[in-house]
Amino acid sequence: MKLLTATTIGRLRLRNRVVMAPMTRSRADGDGIVGDATVRYYAQRATAGLLITEATNVSPDAVGSPLTPGIWNGAQVEAWKKVTSAVHAEGGTIVMQLWHTGRVGHSEVRGGRLPVAPSAVAIEGQKHFTAAGPKDYEVPRALTTDEVRATIDDFENAARNARAAGFDGVELHGAFGYLPHQFLVDSSNRRTDEYGGSVENRARFVLDVLDRLVRVWGEGRVGVRLSPTLAYNSMVDSDPRATFSYVIDRLNALPLAYLHLMRATPDATRFPHWPQDTIATFAPLFRGPVIVNGGYDRDAAEAVLDAGAAQAVSFGAPFVSNPDLVHRFDTGAPLAAGDRSTFYGGGEKGYTDYPSLPRDVAPPPKGYWLIMARITDPERFKQYTALAGPTLASYGARVIVRGDVAEVVEGTVPKRPYLVEFPSHAAALGCFHSVAYQEAIALRAGAAEFDIVIVEGTPSGPSPAR
Ligand SMILES: Cc1cc2nc3c(=O)[nH]c(=O)nc-3n(C[C@H](O)[C@H](O)[C@H](O)COP(=O)(O)O)c2cc1C
Repeated sequence: MKLLTATTIGRLRLRNRVVMAPMTRSRADGDGIVGDATVRYYAQRATAGLLITEATNVSPDAVGSPLTPGIWNGAQVEAWKKVTSAVHAEGGTIVMQLWHTGRVGHSEVRGGRLPVAPSAVAIEGQKHFTAAGPKDYEVPRALTTDEVRATIDDFENAARNARAAGFDGVELHGAFGYLPHQFLVDSSNRRTDEYGGSVENRARFVLDVLDRLVRVWGEGRVGVRLSPTLAYNSMVDSDPRATFSYVIDRLNALPLAYLHLMRATPDATRFPHWPQDTIATFAPLFRGPVIVNGGYDRDAAEAVLDAGAAQAVSFGAPFVSNPDLVHRFDTGAPLAAGDRSTFYGGGEKGYTDYPSLPRDVAPPPKGYWLIMARITDPERFKQYTALAGPTLASYGARVIVRGDVAEVVEGTVPKRPYLVEFPSHAAALGCFHSVAYQEAIALRAGAAEFDIVIVEGTPSGPSPAR
């Protein structure tokens, strides 16, 4: 399975391509300091190729929701150090997502201060969660040009702190309608200074911030997350294709680690001119590694990797309830469902108490059989064996002598079905999901007589029934 193969993203070495997406869990204390439960939570998930932390506020002014963590002061850095050490002790890699909520906040959770934004334009049709219950969004206060520059300084300070805390890199949260996204989109950015108006000016904030992050972190350790087709939080750009094509084109000039692209299918009746396929539209524009996200399961992730559209896939909700998601993908074990009522806030329940499957217990000694039947076209069969043979061998598979197997091994036409035994279910699934095997299977197209089925059996048992 390509998903489980190692890769390099910028300077980050990932042991697999399963990335944990950033997820706010609202379990910091009132000072934005994470505790021991958070250390356990990330360490439990360290088998991911890359962990991206929950969005973390770059300054007190960045805070929009209660109990979200910060990275603007020394106490917060000390707390995050415990997280990075625990993850590194497990052999994991972890970057911090840097966050400024902009207008996605409320004076109720900001000590009475109005949220700040590029322009004094409120989010419509949604409410904001506060300790006093859901509230309508307020009209935010527009940042002055000097304040915009000071906010860029805040990101740089946060990036330095993230370094001091032992992270492997940082990701700018440029998605989901938070401050950087508010600058990009013309429905929320009505500024007339150099940070508003033309697409060049609207992109300036994100590019200036990234430039600073790169200055702190150097090459290949800064990523950026974008959600060009997500209208959530009133992100209604008049031309997302033009806006984000420009932004991504400019990203190519920076030595970034990756672009983290969130796919979302826009409401075609409201936004008929928006691109419907986020990944197909925007991923090819970025010349570096792309991490894709948004409703992927194992097979969809494998398909997007095989298609070459992304270098890794991030998973959000599945990681909440499956700390050993990588292991489950590897073995084909079912995924546990998450309890949404404990996604945000609370203690260890719904946070660190989702179990991993036992690993030290050896899987039952089952054999898995691959059956190939009635392959009648000699040329097609030769092509198939040339591709599939070495792949089968690399997964420890063994052709069980049966019927015309001698002919099979020599690449001639079998008249009857034959069988292949795998050492484990994981090996059979891994082989099936490998690129080479998928290519072999693709030869099936147009050859209805070529049939593959995995049937569970015992290695020395009788031939399984079709
Ligand atoms: C509980 C929860 C919190 C989230 N918090 C963040 C966040 O802090 N930053 C962010 O960029 N995305 C956040 N997201 C979005 C996820 O990163 C991801 O994009 C989304 O869950 C879709 O991926 P999935 O289908 O694999 O879950 C959050 C999602 C969930 C479920």
